[in-house]
Amino acid sequence: MDRNPFSCEYQWGRLRCTVAHRKSQGPAAGSTRSRRKGLFVTFEGIEGSGKSTQAHALAQYLRSQGFWVVETREPGGTPVAEQIREVFLRPSRKLQAVDPLIPECEVALILAARSQHVANLLLPALQQGAIIVCDRFADSTLAYQGFGRGLSLRELRSLTRWAAQGLTPDLTFLFDLPVSQGLKRRLKSTDANRLDHETSAFHQRVRKGFLSLAKHPRRRIHTINASRSAQAISRQLITVVAPLLEEGLKTRRLALKQV
Ligand code: TMP
Repeated sequence: MDRNPFSCEYQWGRLRCTVAHRKSQGPAAGSTRSRRKGLFVTFEGIEGSGKSTQAHALAQYLRSQGFWVVETREPGGTPVAEQIREVFLRPSRKLQAVDPLIPECEVALILAARSQHVANLLLPALQQGAIIVCDRFADSTLAYQGFGRGLSLRELRSLTRWAAQGLTPDLTFLFDLPVSQGLKRRLKSTDANRLDHETSAFHQRVRKGFLSLAKHPRRRIHTINASRSAQAISRQLITVVAPLLEEGLKTRRLALKQV
């Protein structure tokens, strides 16, 4: 497991998360992009698109190349955010029956988890030169709560910017495949959650939402045809990431030496 003098690490299944202990500094001053040395890569897509497996494979590849990689996910990524994830994804049947989560509450939970994640894991790790491989981030909020639930995209963008202290990914892979294919894969899994059981129409809206987000900004979001073989997809991801690594190679290798 990666070691860093300012942090300790937690593990949920395959996911490794580093939580940096620091005094709370409140909202960041200035642009988060200008203050960071690392690289922030996110994986997005509908259920059953295979993004989590590919995120892990990319993280392993990058480690094999000598980079310091932090694998994490949303909602989740820190101990508090993981507890919020449980409430968000797995409220008990009884709770759901008497007090179903409403879309606004979904957003509030997601933002609460994101603010912890950004402040206590993502920003400290990026400032120390890590490559973050994150399974879902703010595009999921726009796709699920915006396009899926029908909440205002404008409001969601502004709330997300606030909760994330302005942090945006350097690169996003959007895994796309037909909803029927994704749900078939997903509902077979023993790990299916509250949103997996939403209607097919909901997942269609989410998919369309992701595809419309991918149109802008084009340079950040790379759409991946997730119906192809795992090897073909892995090769494509490495081809896209490689030039970005070259740009920051010196900084990140230096950061690695200091860990
Ligand atoms: P996953 O980790 O298996 O992809 O499950 C996370 C679920 O949370 C997935 O159904 C999408 C949902 N989600 C939202 O609805 N909004 C969000 O902002 C995020 C990050 C996830």
